[in-house]
Amino acid sequence: MKAALLAVLAAGALATQVTMAAEAPADLAKAKNCLACHSVQTKIVGPAYKDVAAKYAGQKDAEDKLVKKVLTGGSGVWGPVPMPPNSQVTEAEAHTLVKWVLSQK
Ligand code: HEC
Repeated sequence: MKAALLAVLAAGALATQVTMAAEAPADLAKAKNCLACHSVQTKIVGPAYKDVAAKYAGQKDAEDKLVKKVLTGGSGVWGPVPMPPNSQVTEAEAHTLVKWVLSQK
């Protein structure tokens, strides 16, 4: 009885995780305010994420480099306007966000 209940709970938790993995990055970008300055398709204050993906396509070290940039901010790659440090994101969240950015078309 107890084991069956646990199995149901575990299956439920797993299903929730799978759904979250599919939806989370875009929601995370919204929650962390990235979309105040960025959109996937068009330049706002910062570059369009599809343009970022195109620029770094095929570059192996792009993810680590961009994670650092998201965390500490910087300017000069897309123009003179700096991206401020995004201190509200953890390094793990930054990896999730950058992977998502680099997958945009
Ligand atoms: C206040 C506006 C602002 C916010 C908020 C912001 N960005 Fe940016 N972002 C910029 C600007 C401006 C640039 C271009 C910087 C440059 O030219 O080097 C940029 C560049 C980038 C780049 C490309 C960096 C490079 O060197 O090519 C990535 C990736 C990125 N942002 C991701 C994010 C993520 C993820 C978040 C949310 C955690 C975020 N940004 C929040 C303004 C912003």
